[in-house]
Amino acid sequence: MTEPVQTPQSRFKPRIFSGIQPSGGLTLGNYLGALKRFVEKQDEGIETIYCLVDMHAITVWQDPEKLRQQTREGAAAFIAAGIDPARSILFNQSQVTAHAELGWIFNCIARMGWMSRMTQFKDKAGKNSENVSLGLFAYPSLMAADILAYHATMVPVGDDQKQHLELARDIAIKFNNDYKVDFFPVVDPLIEGAATRVMSLRDGTKKMSKSDPSDQSRINLTDDADAISAKIRKAKTDAEPLPDTLEGLKDRPEARNLVNIYAALADMTPQAVVAEYAGAQFGTFKPRLAELSVAKLAPITTEMNRLMKDPAEIDRILGAGADRADAIARPILNQVKDIVGMIRSR
Ligand code: AMP
Ligand code: TRP
Repeated sequence: MTEPVQTPQSRFKPRIFSGIQPSGGLTLGNYLGALKRFVEKQDEGIETIYCLVDMHAITVWQDPEKLRQQTREGAAAFIAAGIDPARSILFNQSQVTAHAELGWIFNCIARMGWMSRMTQFKDKAGKNSENVSLGLFAYPSLMAADILAYHATMVPVGDDQKQHLELARDIAIKFNNDYKVDFFPVVDPLIEGAATRVMSLRDGTKKMSKSDPSDQSRINLTDDADAISAKIRKAKTDAEPLPDTLEGLKDRPEARNLVNIYAALADMTPQAVVAEYAGAQFGTFKPRLAELSVAKLAPITTEMNRLMKDPAEIDRILGAGADRADAIARPILNQVKDIVGMIRSR
């Protein structure tokens, strides 16, 4: 009898890790590209670990009191969206020191050239690259540590994180090669669904982002029903009615974006949305989209506000999550230290 083929991947059990920066309020982009998918993965019964990456957040200046507030708000958003802290591990990154320790080791694996090619760094640094923090440059190496400290095999993210995940794969492969071990799994990005890249409501070529100066460009998870409706009503569109096929949305980025948002919120395909609204004007489509957005987001906002009234309970949940995360990451980090040749005598 022949042995079944053992791919390096097959000895790692399926485990999901993902993170969100507590660097501002969360947007509809975060919800559709990340949070909603995180909940689906948890509900599929896969082991899920979710992290508020406060150490990533401080790669650009954060007011300390705001950082604490936004971390709690992020945790409240996870729970309000359906993350159950008993089934998923939910914690903030800085409470589990394995992230920083493995991050340093990966700084010594990753190459300057790899990091210099990261488009997010280039976008964030802009013309100011001499003046940004060293942490902003090393950011993707800490992100690789986040994932690999748990031997996570799958990482659900929005489309903008694809390049960072490729770098995490490169780091895992180089570590395995340099030390002649088969220790780290090669991570699979999960970039799926109708809204992997939600665009700004003011400019269909720009990503919806919590750092956009215009609040009209995004829907925040803390917006009330009136604000959501007003933003969708005022969203930039063109004068054409909706086409009957997706082909007809080519070169119409704003229209395409609203169709994608509708599809993701309604759990439909974009094809099914255009089939349903073929020939409709935005005067008809926008109120329907606003209604759907409010119906899906309002319960989350209400629950977030309720949870935020008890910050001590949120901190307790994050602490308990950090204990469970630490119990997985610590033994993996110890093995890394042994592989690298670091003495552990205490
Ligand atoms: P960040 O807010 O940058 O920490 O992003 C957290 C998660 O949300 C990541 O998985 C991102 O890819 C995702 N995300 C952020 N903005 C968007 C967007 N406009 N569309 C889809 N996903 C997004
Ligand atoms: N860089 C991610 C973002 O800005 C956040 C992040 C940090 C992350 N560590 C991670 C995402 C690990 C997935 C896995 O969106």
